Amino acid sequence: MKRVFSGIQPTGSLHLGNYLGALKRFVAMQDDHECIYCIVDLHALTMPHDPAGLAGATREAAAGFLASGLDPERCVVFNQSRCPMHTRLGWMLACLTPLGWLNRMTQFKEKAGKKRDGASLGLYGYPVLQAADILGYRATHVPVGEDQKQHLELSRDIAGAFNRRFGVDFFPLPEPVIAGEATRVMSLRDGARKMSKSDESDYARINLTDDRDTIARKVRKARTDSEPGVTWDPEARPEASNLVAIYAALADTTRQAVVDEYASARFSDFKARLAELAVEKLGPVGEEMKRLAADPAYVDGVLADGARRAHAIAGPIQAEAEEIVGLLAP
Ligand code: AMP
Ligand code: TRP
Repeated sequence: MKRVFSGIQPTGSLHLGNYLGALKRFVAMQDDHECIYCIVDLHALTMPHDPAGLAGATREAAAGFLASGLDPERCVVFNQSRCPMHTRLGWMLACLTPLGWLNRMTQFKEKAGKKRDGASLGLYGYPVLQAADILGYRATHVPVGEDQKQHLELSRDIAGAFNRRFGVDFFPLPEPVIAGEATRVMSLRDGARKMSKSDESDYARINLTDDRDTIARKVRKARTDSEPGVTWDPEARPEASNLVAIYAALADTTRQAVVDEYASARFSDFKARLAELAVEKLGPVGEEMKRLAADPAYVDGVLADGARRAHAIAGPIQAEAEEIVGLLAP
């Protein structure tokens, strides 16, 4: 049986990269899979955060999940800190994970920066908690953007380490699902940088909460080169190619089809069409988020119900894992 799990951190506002790389994929999988989608608030503690804003950010992320089209009847939507399995299994897995594996993680190196010794144990262990998120539901498929590839490989290695150490076939090795035409959406200001929640320029990203005018303005102001036509060439034309990928993903078509369709168009006309398309697809998401922001009791209810369902799945798996390692008598 296939079981899907994925997570997004409640840090900063959800953006087009999260939408195309993750949320749109989450929605696509809910029809024919059992899906569990998590707002990973424990992961948000690994970087400096504002305690007064965290619960609100979790609620806003949940609104973003729902506004993107996740149906809380069909999938489990909850926040990580409400299900005790994550930290408990995280500890058990931490005790099996060699430091050498963690030392290879590029995201830790980027986030820790030059002051490696000042980085927290939590930031270092971030990918172990991520492995627990996935393995604690015995998930088989994990939709993510390209940047999570290395963490997913580590999750597979940790699952293998557990199974080998205890001579069991308990955790399935989770498969990353890195699919679609925009698995790595780049900044609208700099085609060499990933679109991210932490970019200081708001014009670098389209937030899911942006209104229609803002979305159109950001697309129109997106940096491009002086080549006149529409081509796909991420090496030579990173910014233009990023817009082609975004168009393809938003329109549910392929990059090649976009290039063919606009073969004789000027780039400025293509951009104007992209602005319209982005407004058409993302405008309603932002409007629904706004509506949900006015109904926090509903969103909290979805999260509470999701936490109950998540715990009902993870609790027995956790207990079995505790038996396997010897914490619980069989
Ligand atoms: P994060 O915002 O880091 O919690 O990421 C949540 C999900 O969105 C993960 O699956 C990421 O791989 C995905 N994601 C984040 N930024 C991008 C991006 N610029 N392009 C594609 N996917 C992304
Ligand atoms: N590390 C992921 C990110 O920043 C978020 C995440 C946490 C996650 N736990 C997960 C993604 C489990 C997939 C599965 O994007």
